[in-house]
Amino acid sequence: MYPKTFIFILFIILLNVFLSPTTAQYLIGVGSYDSTGPAAGVNMMGYANLDQSTAGIHFRLRARAFIIAESLDGPRIAFVNLDAGMASQLVTIKVLERLSKRFGKLYNEDNVAISGTHTHAGPGGYMQYVLYSVTSLGFIPQSFDAIVTAIEMSILQAHQNLKSGSVFINTGDLVNAGVNRSPSAYLFNPPTERERYPRDVDTLMTLLKFVDGTSQKSVGAFTWFATHGTSMSSNNTLISGDNKGAAARFFEDWFTSTSTNSTTFYAQENTSTSALIKRASTIKATGGQPCSQTSSQGFKVRKNNGGSQFVGAFCQSNVGDVSPNVLGAFCTDTGLPCDFNHSSCHGNDQLCIGRGPGYPDETKSTKIIGERQFLKAVELFTSAKEQLTGKIDYRHIYLNFTNIDVKLADNQTAKTCPAALGAGFAAGTTDGPGAFGFQQGDKKINEFWKRVRDFLKKPSAYQVDCQNPKPVLVSTGEMFFPYAWAPAIVPIQILRIGKLVILSVPGEFTTMSGRRLRESVKKTLIDNGNGGFDNNTHVVIAGLTNTYSQYIATPEEYQQQRYEAASTLYGPHTLSAYIQEFNKLAESMAKGLKIVDKGPSPPDLSSIQLTLLPDPPGESLPPGIKFGDMKHDIYTPKTGFFRKGDKPSVVFWSPNPRYDLLTEGTYAVVEMLQREMWVPAYDDDDFSLIFKWNVDNSSNNGLASLEWEVPNSAINGVYRFRHFGSSKETIVSTVKYFTGASSAFTVS
Ligand SMILES: *[C@@H]1O[C@H](CO)[C@@H](O)[C@H](O)[C@H]1NC(C)=O
Ligand SMILES: *[C@@H]1O[C@H](CO)[C@@H](O)[C@H](O)[C@H]1NC(C)=O
Ligand SMILES: *[C@@H]1O[C@H](CO)[C@@H](O)[C@H](O)[C@H]1NC(C)=O
Ligand SMILES: *[C@@H]1O[C@H](CO)[C@@H](O)[C@H](O)[C@H]1NC(C)=O
Ligand SMILES: *[C@@H]1O[C@H](CO)[C@@H](O)[C@H](O)[C@H]1NC(C)=O
Ligand SMILES: *[C@@H]1O[C@H](CO)[C@@H](O)[C@H](O)[C@H]1NC(C)=O
Repeated sequence: MYPKTFIFILFIILLNVFLSPTTAQYLIGVGSYDSTGPAAGVNMMGYANLDQSTAGIHFRLRARAFIIAESLDGPRIAFVNLDAGMASQLVTIKVLERLSKRFGKLYNEDNVAISGTHTHAGPGGYMQYVLYSVTSLGFIPQSFDAIVTAIEMSILQAHQNLKSGSVFINTGDLVNAGVNRSPSAYLFNPPTERERYPRDVDTLMTLLKFVDGTSQKSVGAFTWFATHGTSMSSNNTLISGDNKGAAARFFEDWFTSTSTNSTTFYAQENTSTSALIKRASTIKATGGQPCSQTSSQGFKVRKNNGGSQFVGAFCQSNVGDVSPNVLGAFCTDTGLPCDFNHSSCHGNDQLCIGRGPGYPDETKSTKIIGERQFLKAVELFTSAKEQLTGKIDYRHIYLNFTNIDVKLADNQTAKTCPAALGAGFAAGTTDGPGAFGFQQGDKKINEFWKRVRDFLKKPSAYQVDCQNPKPVLVSTGEMFFPYAWAPAIVPIQILRIGKLVILSVPGEFTTMSGRRLRESVKKTLIDNGNGGFDNNTHVVIAGLTNTYSQYIATPEEYQQQRYEAASTLYGPHTLSAYIQEFNKLAESMAKGLKIVDKGPSPPDLSSIQLTLLPDPPGESLPPGIKFGDMKHDIYTPKTGFFRKGDKPSVVFWSPNPRYDLLTEGTYAVVEMLQREMWVPAYDDDDFSLIFKWNVDNSSNNGLASLEWEVPNSAINGVYRFRHFGSSKETIVSTVKYFTGASSAFTVS
């Protein structure tokens, strides 16, 4: 962190201490739970890239939740921010089933929202519609269970933490964390409309701050801001929360380090470097040893685990056309900007790649875009003073999007269509280009691909006409083998916390789509609210929530058929249908009416999911080697010690990490010697420590590499690596746990 920012933050904190305490308005609770899925061999959700499978962890994924209730028996809402590509209908269904077993009717589809951060670096296989599980080779129970359990546990924690408290809201602009990746499509929107906005992306960040009513201490903060989780590219194989997960990690670490009860390490400043080196040289590696999951301190090292931690969450918004690769898109062969209308390079879309601010280092880009969101959030957090008061309320319905009658502005009527993808979908985006020679903006499909398409499913004449000008490449809404390829039934939901209204949308609204929806809903609320809403009401879009139905472009953007439009499933009037139906919910909320027709329930396809990726079969090692033994110990530099920024690493013999996900634990630890005891200092949830897993090509055995980039904040002293893992001899054996430690090394 920059010294100036730091001093500014300190100043604001001091200022806050002297502000008079506020009266608690609500019951509030927050929770957070590890949702990290299988870290080896599972295709990642987002880029639909067959080659992109997990091979380790950069940092862990989490579900973060808040609950706000008017009173113990008054209305309440639960909102979950999930480090995942998107929400999944089946996940939502199963979470609600578990919540109803625990709590009866307290938490249900009406008042629970589950929103995905849109990281493209999490394991896939947790979605029920065919299109979203093609590249993961079907449904992956281990991915699914990790996510469902984490959401359930985060809500349970928030529920158990409920106590009287206040909620503050603050907003501000963040201008350098997103650019429009389809600016030519944005230009199709009417000039008079565009003139009303300074930019072609929304820069507004909205933050909620939760403050305990008794202690007046902050317990959490949730923000909404639109930018894609594509700082990590389609080449990445490490599980990562991308820029939003990074921002959350930074925010929570910052809060923990500025509050008093965090672990403190004592520096060995009085000890000379040579004495440290001498001490380190006496501590040799310990080979693989059995350990039990409960007795080992190493499995659970996070300083702020448990029920009372601070939760900082970075939620997604109208993200459709917003890329975090803010330097723009360039051709990898010539280095020149790509074709403006098609984002291709002399006809080849695969050469056109967006660059993040850390280019060419995508981890650095993730860190920078994460830091920008984190620093803005800290600023909004420390200066938040508008307190939310008033009603907690919610409305939720399901819509069959296959054929909604839409009333257009000119009194004409139109219909939405069965789901379909256009050619521009296959072209991908500048964040992750597609394949097969398609380009964004393609309005024709050649004979070859038409034949392939018709072999799969020939779109009906009605569909082709309905989707026009989208050239139908995959008529997902008309494909049901072996089960539905796309959702027909999707939920929409409005949550209200006094002057804040959250719109839960089941997809990715483009910038202008989001603006139109927010503006229209706000007007409806004010017009029908009898003073309950006014111009100061905040309307926030929560993107990728409750289920996933891809993109929502404006009808004008739809004409150009870039990726976002080609992925707008239900035809040119998709957005108009959303606005129309959200307005009905808004009117019902503003007038205090009940929803009479809750719409058709979505199908539960869990019993017919196909799983083509097998679980790991169990494994053994060559004689004389135990799991947790090292293949390579530390390579100490000639100086005898490591400096800040150096990257010490070690390699352990290690079985597939899928035998146990070590949920709320860690595969990797950097321990520091403290008064002759090893104390965990960094784990696989820290940005600086990376756990990689792959198969040794010569012996066909698994290897775990632990790599630590010594952060500037590291304290001088003696350190070592520690690895934790689990194994099975055969698929039916019980799981056994092991650990191993490297030789000690010095940081100075
Ligand atoms: C992935 O790596 C390849 C090979 O280095 C490179 O050509 C390609 O542009 C990269 N893709 C992305 C999306 O960064
Ligand atoms: C992009 O397409 C628009 C029309 O859709 C056209 O007016 C414009 O000239 C094109 N721009 C470039 C750089 O090709
Ligand atoms: C949605 O509506 C279409 C058209 O009316 C109908 O064919 C289909 O069965 C409905 N889908 C579901 C899941 O109810
Ligand atoms: C649409 O119809 C309503 C009433 O049916 C009418 O008041 C309005 O003027 C019409 N608008 C247009 C643009 O024709
Ligand atoms: C509502 O607020 C916006 C900006 O916050 C302002 O531009 C607009 O003029 C206000 N409208 C009314 C009716 O006060
Ligand atoms: C095994 O080979 C693949 C492809 O040649 C390579 O990417 C991978 O890093 C190798 N694994 C190890 C452990 O050397």
